Amino acid sequence: MSVVEIKDKKFVPYITESRINTAVTEIAEKINTELKDKFPLFLVVLNGSFIFAADLLRKVNIPCHLSFIKVASYHGVSSSGSVTELIGLTEDVKGRVVVIVEDIVDTGTTLEKLYHVLEQKEVKELKIATLLLKPEAYQKEMKVDYAGIEIPNDFVVGYGLDYDGLGRNLKEIYVLAK
Ligand code: IMP
Repeated sequence: MSVVEIKDKKFVPYITESRINTAVTEIAEKINTELKDKFPLFLVVLNGSFIFAADLLRKVNIPCHLSFIKVASYHGVSSSGSVTELIGLTEDVKGRVVVIVEDIVDTGTTLEKLYHVLEQKEVKELKIATLLLKPEAYQKEMKVDYAGIEIPNDFVVGYGLDYDGLGRNLKEIYVLAK
């Protein structure tokens, strides 16, 4: 791994392929044990989670469904602020055990919106799986059930994560050089 330049920024090696693989395996093993008889529905939040989800789901060996979603927020006409819509959710989630698959949880704002929408659709149980978690930035109450690697409040790219749309295809994870 060496220094990577993306646009005006330099990123340095941070988390190796092998460390990522270990974290993904640990999450999959937990899921295989804990959700064995629950027939979960994995909801993969695009775009960033596509690589993590592909690796994770190949290590998950229990019966499950999988769907890809996007979260769109816009300001509605009501005074209640922004309205969140889930694009791509075709499955009926009512009564299902749903696992949200995220690449990274930072402040938790995205998760909170998703949570709110899914709760209204009467899911039975909501679980959260994320490869990376920034505990210092996370400001929400929701329990992150499966967190692969905790990182400080730094900006990272690679393994699905982008800087301005770039860097998603990097095999390892890089951090913004100080
Ligand atoms: P949150 O809503 O603050 O938790 O942020 C969630 C989203 O912000 C993630 O799904 C990412 O798309 C993006 N994000 C947060 N931190 C990073 C980072 O370090 N690198 C790249 N994207 C990030």
